[in-house]
Amino acid sequence: MKKILILFGILLLSGISIAQNVFQNIPNRKTTTLNGKWHYIVDVYESGYYNYRYEPRDQKEHPTNEAIFLDLKPNDRSDLHEYDFDTSPTLYVPGDWNSQEENLFYYEGTVWYRKTFDYKKENATNRIFLNFGAVNYRADIYLNGIKLGFHEGGFTPFYFEVTNLLKEKDNSLVVKVDNKRKKEAVPTLNTDWWNYGGITRDVDLIETQSTYIADYSIQLQKGNAGLIEGYISLNGDDKANQQVAISIPELKINQTLTTNSEGIVSVAIKAKNISYWSPENPKLYTINLKYGNHTLNDKIGFRTIEVKGSDILLNNKSVYLRGISIHEENPLGGRRAYCKEDAELLLGWAKELGCNFVRLAHYPHNEHMLRMADEMGILVWEENPVYWTIPFENHDTYLLAEKQLKEVMMRDKNRASVIIWSMANETPRSEVRLEFLRNLAATARNLDNTRLISAALEKNRVEGKENTLGIDDPFMDYVDIISFNEYVGWYDGLPEKCERVQWEINYNKPVFISEYGGGALQGLHGDKLDRWSEEFQEDLYIKNIAMLRQIPQLRGMSPWILADFRSPRRMRPVIQDGWNRKGLISEKGTKKKAFFVLQEYYKEMMDKWSK
Ligand code: GCU
Repeated sequence: MKKILILFGILLLSGISIAQNVFQNIPNRKTTTLNGKWHYIVDVYESGYYNYRYEPRDQKEHPTNEAIFLDLKPNDRSDLHEYDFDTSPTLYVPGDWNSQEENLFYYEGTVWYRKTFDYKKENATNRIFLNFGAVNYRADIYLNGIKLGFHEGGFTPFYFEVTNLLKEKDNSLVVKVDNKRKKEAVPTLNTDWWNYGGITRDVDLIETQSTYIADYSIQLQKGNAGLIEGYISLNGDDKANQQVAISIPELKINQTLTTNSEGIVSVAIKAKNISYWSPENPKLYTINLKYGNHTLNDKIGFRTIEVKGSDILLNNKSVYLRGISIHEENPLGGRRAYCKEDAELLLGWAKELGCNFVRLAHYPHNEHMLRMADEMGILVWEENPVYWTIPFENHDTYLLAEKQLKEVMMRDKNRASVIIWSMANETPRSEVRLEFLRNLAATARNLDNTRLISAALEKNRVEGKENTLGIDDPFMDYVDIISFNEYVGWYDGLPEKCERVQWEINYNKPVFISEYGGGALQGLHGDKLDRWSEEFQEDLYIKNIAMLRQIPQLRGMSPWILADFRSPRRMRPVIQDGWNRKGLISEKGTKKKAFFVLQEYYKEMMDKWSK
């Protein structure tokens, strides 16, 4: 009991709790990438997983040859085999299969991936971990025929220790990837984005000492810009009562601490002359964590974020969030974004637009985006894929949503750019949904009491008042920022309706418009009434901006959306062709007229709010 109290005591001290199954700071560890070409087998009937009695082969005492995860070869010329990775085609990892193979463009089902590799440990006592940045949607992982486990959730990382399973030669790593949409999954069946399947993010082997620095949180204490706090946790047999050192040279910080019996030590260091991180000054400090003869470094920015009345205070200064919503898609390739170059492209466009903020919709994006946002000075809204009609009454669905939320919070807890955790998007109001979101918000606050909580809610008409819109969603009592999507001029009337609308929001909290916008086919021209013309979209932006100015608590927006993106819902030939056309930039990278309307408004907001 005493041990738990000590651990609990430490957790209370720091703004962040102990990690979930997420490997912290992979980019700065000793890694061997498994990115590259993997052989794959499309298994529409999952016969490599289920036998003819529909029993999972990996739960049978003696799985037969057809168990694809065994990656067997025929013993002799008479042997019966009906699959063979070596002579199967290949896909690139990371990457979705839809954009790589035409016959997989619409595929939803199971694909088996296999990578063979050699691995020699640098030191016999070292440990090896296998990490996946994300696999959409469910991954079952097998190494040398042994099942490591599975992960559900298409946008968060997971890892397994493989120290005792690896061979020096000819390791066979087999991954069963199933991207079938399911009602009880998170997200659920219906979304407005492409269901890209595959091993969509980096795959790495990580080598550590037998006891290593597993996790840490280093950030300013809530409400105290002079105290750097957090924890450092070791993993391994020798983790207890060990000396770990933290140094931040530029702040003249150098402390040696001793872990407790759980291998954890809390950090609480007074610091002076901090250059606070902000979009105008994206200052990142090199942090060195040393244990034994190994140093792990990271780059961390220090900033405070809080709300006060209807203001959002960054480093105690009121800010206006000049944002844009972004899907994790490189439109030029019509594919999942996954690398640093994709992050540079998307965030570079956002910077060109005049943004100091991005809403990474509707699910956690890859870590390159977050580290790039830290470097470029762009504030970030991260979102849990609790989207539309999630079965809120299903407890397993809640556990899935909570697990994914914890995973992204643990991965990105040291990223200064992240200021908002969003619980959901456009979820239908009900008692059971309120309970679901309330519990998610409570979990988020327990894990991280330093960042803000929000969700993209939906506006509603104000009873008895013509042309008056507002928001009376009960979840507003549980968020720090009132965010909602509104489509006046697109789904709700024509742009001229903006000129008739009054907003009534009786809430002393910041208001953030998480979505507004409309579609345009780049290059299609007409007048303001020609839907799908650039002029229609341009006028919609002009009129929405004019309308939203009237909201006194307005502290930002992230219009929908930076770039056109693929969606199976968008079926009109010539105009859509499977693309959602609400982008300000086309899938060829061409800016539409509305881009410049928003850019102009953000110039004005930057001048106004920098005084
Ligand atoms: C919704 C939803 C988006 C969707 C958009 C649209 O607000 O949040 O995911 O793409 O509207 O209809 O284009």
